[in-house]
Amino acid sequence: MKTSETIHPDKVELKSIASVVSDAGSMLLGSISSYREVQGAYLFQGGNASIMIQPVNEQIIRIKLLLDHQMDLRSTIAIQQEAYRSVNVSLEETLEAYRLVLPELTAVVHKNDGRLDFFNAAGELISSEIETFRAARGEFGSRRRMEPGTHIYGLGENTGFLDKNGESYELWNSDVYDPHVPDIGSLYVSIPLLIHFRYDRPVYGIFLDNPGRTSFDMRSDHEAYTFKVNTGTLDYYFIHGPELKDVVSRYSELTGRIELPPAWAIGYHQSRYSYMSQEEVMELARTFRDKRIPCDVIYLDIHYMDEYRVFTFDPTRFPNPRKMIQELREMGIRIVPIVDPGVKRDPNYLPYREGVQRGYFCRKLEGELFIGDVWPGASAFPDFTEEEVRSWWGDQHSYYTELGIAGIWNDMNEPSVFNSPSKTMDLDVVHGNDGDAKTHRELHNLYGMLMSMATQQGLKRNLQGERPFVVTRAGYAGVQKYAATWTGDNRSYWEHLAMSIPMVLNLGLSGQPFAGPDIGGFSHDATPELLARWTQAGAFFPFCRNHSVLESVYQEPWAFGPEIEEICRKYIRLRYRFLPYLYTLFYEAYKTGLPVMRPLILEYPHDRNVYNLCDQFMVGSSLLVAPILRPGTESRAVYLPEGEWINYWSGERLTGGRHILALAPLEVMPIYVKAGAIIPELAEAEQHWKPTLDEKAEIALSVYASAHRSESSGQWYADDARTYAYESGSYNLLTVKVKSGEDMLSLQLKYEVEGLPTAKRGAASGVAEQSQSAARETLALNVKLMKFVPRDIFVNNSSDQVKLTEVGGEWKYDSETQELRLQVPHTLIDKKIIVKG
Ligand code: NOJ
Repeated sequence: MKTSETIHPDKVELKSIASVVSDAGSMLLGSISSYREVQGAYLFQGGNASIMIQPVNEQIIRIKLLLDHQMDLRSTIAIQQEAYRSVNVSLEETLEAYRLVLPELTAVVHKNDGRLDFFNAAGELISSEIETFRAARGEFGSRRRMEPGTHIYGLGENTGFLDKNGESYELWNSDVYDPHVPDIGSLYVSIPLLIHFRYDRPVYGIFLDNPGRTSFDMRSDHEAYTFKVNTGTLDYYFIHGPELKDVVSRYSELTGRIELPPAWAIGYHQSRYSYMSQEEVMELARTFRDKRIPCDVIYLDIHYMDEYRVFTFDPTRFPNPRKMIQELREMGIRIVPIVDPGVKRDPNYLPYREGVQRGYFCRKLEGELFIGDVWPGASAFPDFTEEEVRSWWGDQHSYYTELGIAGIWNDMNEPSVFNSPSKTMDLDVVHGNDGDAKTHRELHNLYGMLMSMATQQGLKRNLQGERPFVVTRAGYAGVQKYAATWTGDNRSYWEHLAMSIPMVLNLGLSGQPFAGPDIGGFSHDATPELLARWTQAGAFFPFCRNHSVLESVYQEPWAFGPEIEEICRKYIRLRYRFLPYLYTLFYEAYKTGLPVMRPLILEYPHDRNVYNLCDQFMVGSSLLVAPILRPGTESRAVYLPEGEWINYWSGERLTGGRHILALAPLEVMPIYVKAGAIIPELAEAEQHWKPTLDEKAEIALSVYASAHRSESSGQWYADDARTYAYESGSYNLLTVKVKSGEDMLSLQLKYEVEGLPTAKRGAASGVAEQSQSAARETLALNVKLMKFVPRDIFVNNSSDQVKLTEVGGEWKYDSETQELRLQVPHTLIDKKIIVKG
């Protein structure tokens, strides 16, 4: 524990105001005297150094500082080369500057000092550089102007609120067991993407591609922000919006988007450090089923292993893992075991022996193996920067896949090393890096991501077409391509429940849509009320796992008695009812990079009330969730943006553009649906993810009708939920368009993609179930909160109108709930269904 001695005047380096404002050294580039073009990139030669400007595509420009004036087009593994497209570029020279003109974006290099500004096609200044500099300790950096009213988003996984203006971070993957408080500038995942937002300006992003230590300072100077690299040189990408959604989407194109996870991975997950034996795991699974609480995944933490050797099971605690996994699969539960990078130093243990013999472990320059202490004691660490090592590591996972496992939990992969002064691998370890050797200091932030890459690819090779699932603690930009992330060792603090929202929102804006905290909190002890509130909120996070530490009180949904159990059951079930909607949002993330869980600013960028709003969030663009984040609280203010909203629980219609006071007794978490929303929902929660595409699952498109004249639309994505057939078009994407009038409502269903065969009733439904990939013959539509009593329903066959019931459809209206239930035969897709009052 620290005491006040920490701030003893003799120990603190005193700063003067002037030194706080700038730690910059000299202007670096000097005047720019000439330029040359090589392979589509432009090198501007300065007195002391040069800068390379390389158009990536119409909206992204790469900038690299070249100290030796030599063109260098290499980039890190984070970059998707497919993001490069040919662009029309012209170079104009004026007396003062060079102007590199792209159709949407112009980069201006000032001749006198090399400063770099960006303008849009309309000639508006988007971003202006103050200087590129070499700081006192030799780091290279850039300082850019920041006007009052600027908001900064992104920057991956951090403590604090949504808006990062006023904060300062050091991006260095770190195992932080200390409480995650605002002073902590580095956590497990480093994503050096800064998004600059000002309501009256085009939004832009800066992605600083450097996997060594980088820093972003939005604190020291109110009129500028600075980003710096500690090793190597500046290599960054300027990403033009003009909207926030554009920046997020373009950044995700640059660093890659998620694959669709197997649907079971978006169900509810239960974990603990550790479930200690096979019996305990089976008992846990049976309890979930007995209590009718949905669950798809149980985790095995480090105690499942034989003395913490990865790729083993402890023969006493887990005598028959195959049988356990098989029985769980029959119950609809998957096992996800933990795999850490540290391989126990034991000459009788094959992975260690083989790794040493093949030279696959990390070494110092002189050849000495790097050995560090983690759970198994002295351990070696695979050099994941080498493709051959990744492939070897991936292959080791056949140990798990042969037992029926398809999901892996990567932990401690910053990497965390207990006995090293740096708390990670020695910084002078030299990674092979496929022929471009670099020190650990230079590549540190990549280590965890490369481990997950190896894991995911190895699982894929072994699973014969099944989608794997990987969740990782450490990561770098692009981690979303390989794994979900959880936010590490949080605590059972109310503050950490609150903080998990902006943390996951910013991860989402930084390209990682599949993230979540340990529900209930990892260390410290959860209380009944905290678990109830955290499960309510957690049910709407993309990654939904309850996990807690050794010796903490148990926090399974039933651990605190029937009242809390009922609340947890209710919200976990609610998640399962919304799974078709969540899955559709995962599809959207796969296609566009937009996150599943969204800050309001993403949907309402022109609303000044939401710039830093992060005690409530959106799931997609239709649901607004406002969790209770403090104990003993039964009401809260909720901000409803402009428009019409519907209280999910009561059906009450509310006008937005204002704050309301929401009542929230313990069993209620306020949820609002945007009027006009169309949400694919299950009528009943299943106990685990089941193929929801066969005729038996009662899935319906819920239309939350607006009370006003309005038009809206929504989508439902469905595929087999477990293979890669979607990549070759085996999926359905259905769009529903709704038009509401005074006493008329029209609905139009259209398949944007209809890649699944349509199930036929009777004989064929067995096939549908087997392949899990047939579309339904009849679609159910539930129009909630009808404004008028429907008299009849017609189908518009362009010229003539026939009654829905005459063409195989059915409808029922419940005047008490004001709900209209329609059964629409597949043959009516593309036609207009008109409900008349
Ligand atoms: C640290 C991880 O953050 C935690 O989730 C896990 O339970 C422990 N390591 C033990 O494996």
